[in-house]
Amino acid sequence: MQRDVDFLVIGGGIAGLTFALEAARHGRVLVLTKAGRAESNTRYAQGGIASVLSTEDSFDAHVADTLTAGAGLCRKDVVEMCVRQGPERVRELIAFGVAFDRAGDDYHLTLEGGHSRRRILHAKDLTGAEVERALVAAAEARGVESLERHLAIDLITSEKLGQPGPNRCIGAYVLNTDSGDVVTIRAKVTLLASGGCGKVYLYTTNPDVASGDGIAMAHRAGAAIADMEFIQFHPTCLFHPQAKNFLISEALRGEGGVLKRRDGATFMERYHPQKSLAPRDIVARAIDSELKKTGDDHIVLDMTHLPKAFLVERFPHIYQTCLAFGIDMAVQPIPVVPAAHFSCGGVATDLSGATTLPFLLAAGETACTGLHGANRLASNSLLEGLVFGHNASALAAKLVREAAPLPPAPDWNSGSAVPPDEGVVVAHNWDEVRRTMWNYVGIVRTNKRLDRAQRRLALLRDEIRDYYWGTHVTAPTLELRNLADVAMLIVTSARLRRESRGLHTTLDFPERDDARWLKDTVLVRGVVNDAAWRR
Ligand code: SIN
Repeated sequence: MQRDVDFLVIGGGIAGLTFALEAARHGRVLVLTKAGRAESNTRYAQGGIASVLSTEDSFDAHVADTLTAGAGLCRKDVVEMCVRQGPERVRELIAFGVAFDRAGDDYHLTLEGGHSRRRILHAKDLTGAEVERALVAAAEARGVESLERHLAIDLITSEKLGQPGPNRCIGAYVLNTDSGDVVTIRAKVTLLASGGCGKVYLYTTNPDVASGDGIAMAHRAGAAIADMEFIQFHPTCLFHPQAKNFLISEALRGEGGVLKRRDGATFMERYHPQKSLAPRDIVARAIDSELKKTGDDHIVLDMTHLPKAFLVERFPHIYQTCLAFGIDMAVQPIPVVPAAHFSCGGVATDLSGATTLPFLLAAGETACTGLHGANRLASNSLLEGLVFGHNASALAAKLVREAAPLPPAPDWNSGSAVPPDEGVVVAHNWDEVRRTMWNYVGIVRTNKRLDRAQRRLALLRDEIRDYYWGTHVTAPTLELRNLADVAMLIVTSARLRRESRGLHTTLDFPERDDARWLKDTVLVRGVVNDAAWRR
């Protein structure tokens, strides 16, 4: 089966839908989501959107906080652009019906780690769900077509089709996960906005959809991937045997929560003057170090000094979820541990979202735009999705006007593949990839552990590829292949960076080395290139 569109959008979170809403003014748009229409990382964002909306705040302060968190690797022009565009993009969201919390005539602004001012707009503690609700409704109202339960398998490129001339993206092969059919979708422009890759780690705050599909596909298609060593571990994921991936928002610390050891002792004052509200990389490392020292399996976040009525009103979702696990945060501290949360690296783009593969754009967590550098400032990710979704749509409209006619693309050929019959192999390999990453490529790294991870992942990846090519494509095998590819990109980048900076800490190179490492790590299929990209 074949489809032709002007704009193919892979992913239905804030970046994809912002893009789609604008692109719909210029041509036929198709948005693919691999699960339900609203299932995306965006939907699970609790904290909010950082933007300068208060007279006590300034663009300079937001820029400075972002650069400080980014540990020298942010791209300053990108930071300036995102911060300055922020208020206008936020006003557009409000026009789409997003109901941010108010305080009288103004919006209520909360605080999170690394911010010098209150500047985070939020909708209680369910900001992402509110943003997603409004954008999905706006996209439907604008007639944007979307296909649920459609998982992209691979990008179609002119090179893969043996076409002469410079390589370009011409769409994607896509699996209908209900029917098992593979659809060939030709598109003049393709946007990757499929979120991050938290599922590559055993413990993560991310939903199951976050298997790094966009990053893996872009790499296989030959686009440059940058800075994958910078995986952000959120300091506070709920620690409970029955809880799966439940985030305890940093906004709790913004409103007065204090991190403590299980014995009740505070510790953050020994690590940073901003204590529990220090930038995330510092808090996660401090927790890691305390856990190693004490032998405890978790720390706690203490909110018990705050009035119950305030907690219930300000954090209804977190309060009720904790309660369902038997934890009343008004009377007992919440058990928490760090967990993989956000990928600062991804598909390398310029300021308009263009990747190094012509007619392929990327936005949101899938992309590495230069905003986050070596460590993302809290609540800058929804902002990035908005700004780059918007900018990419302007570039895409121009590309669609100028694009040469698309070459023919053959239907998907499954060759001699047979139906999969070894579910146990897939389940086992999933677990092995995620455990290897958790144990060897975590918050604090060493050469020895990274080498060990690389050896194991290389074996696993070969095994997974054999299985993948020998059986009909299914969602679990596709996601497993993507996870293994992304795991390898993370390990390879981490081995290249021979210093400690931001989210990448290695005991073998404990110092930051600006003389040699003020640059991105860049991986292109078949080429290891640690030379500067963009610098
Ligand atoms: C949080 O609510 O703590 C997450 C915010 C973010 O990751 O930016």
